[in-house]
Amino acid sequence: LENGVARTPPMGWNTWNTFGCNINETLIKQTADAMVSNGMRDLGYQYVVVDDCWMNSNRDSAGNLQPNLSRFPSGMKALGDYLHARGLKFGIYQAPLDKTCAQYFGSYPGATGSLNHEVQDAQQFAAWGVDYLKHDWCSPTGTIDDQVRIFAKMRDALAATGRPILYSINPNSIHDKTGPRRNWGDIANIWRTTEDITNKWDTGQTNGYPMGIQNIVNVTVPLASYAKPGQFNDPDMMEVGRGGMNDTEMRSHFALWAMMASPLIAGNDVRNMDSATSTIMKNQNLIAINQDTLGLQATQVSNDGTRRILAKRLSNGDVAVALFNQGGSTTTISTTASAIGLSGNSFGLREAWSNAVTSTTGNISASVPAHGTVVYRVSGGTPNPDPTPTPTPTSSTTTP
Ligand code: GLA
Repeated sequence: LENGVARTPPMGWNTWNTFGCNINETLIKQTADAMVSNGMRDLGYQYVVVDDCWMNSNRDSAGNLQPNLSRFPSGMKALGDYLHARGLKFGIYQAPLDKTCAQYFGSYPGATGSLNHEVQDAQQFAAWGVDYLKHDWCSPTGTIDDQVRIFAKMRDALAATGRPILYSINPNSIHDKTGPRRNWGDIANIWRTTEDITNKWDTGQTNGYPMGIQNIVNVTVPLASYAKPGQFNDPDMMEVGRGGMNDTEMRSHFALWAMMASPLIAGNDVRNMDSATSTIMKNQNLIAINQDTLGLQATQVSNDGTRRILAKRLSNGDVAVALFNQGGSTTTISTTASAIGLSGNSFGLREAWSNAVTSTTGNISASVPAHGTVVYRVSGGTPNPDPTPTPTPTSSTTTP
């Protein structure tokens, strides 16, 4: 979406994965303070997104959304001001039909979705200083055409406010077995590619509820051609630092999200991070690969079921390559500079985790632990005109 924002994938934090409906303004403020003091803000984690359950269960007599005042006694404008004063941006959650997800599934009272209130709600969000709207289609009913029409109403209502507001949508509830059936880049800045993530490596889903890291990667890699500045696939908020995975798997999760030009939205409690989590989330080599201004998503070089290789062209002519071991034991994964679209006789390799620099005449290879990912930034070559193949989405992920 060409609305001036999301020129690179958004980075930030969202309440949902760790806190669900258990949110209030103190939590948000403490988190914002932590993001400033622990350095996350300065590394690019900008958006602080208040997910579902911030609302009162009813609109006021004029039809305006109201915050739940026992959770947000100072109101949403004051919360936005607090974030802006710290150099952060304010994100909020809403649903396009009659109910939010938590309202729909009964874990939170009320019926306060945006249907037929699009203009009023967009104006309200802008007045509160909102910089990011997560708009979540919760009802399992509706067609793709309904979604296009109704998501576009909010797109236009946001544009009409004159405030740059990043537009994030989740269209998955009506087609959770297939992944996105269209490229949503005409409607939104980011769109979810799957049903909800969970803090597990693999839930055995092809696409359903809930999705593990490996399952989301399988759905999102073939959608690479949809990504460009202003519009990115969203494989959901991160589960780094949430338990449920070992450190190797958490590093892979982060590295793969970085390679897929995915939003890097932390889902852990960033007020209390152990050092492994903090080191992963703050890896500057991977953040730079994710935030590269070309805005390209890594394309697949090869995948034999165990050894999966992805390559991402970068704006300075370098290419990032991920050697991803999907198998259960350590294996060597190898490719070449030529296979990732670089010609030349000598290349530098900077490994993202260790920062170690080596050189090669062409072979790129590493021993990779089970579920691990080694990422090299390859420099010194000449990019081929069309360095990496653009995979076509599989038939199940193409607009019929
Ligand atoms: C859906 C979304 C989640 C979260 C919840 C809130 O499940 O996919 O990311 O926003 O709703 O209820």
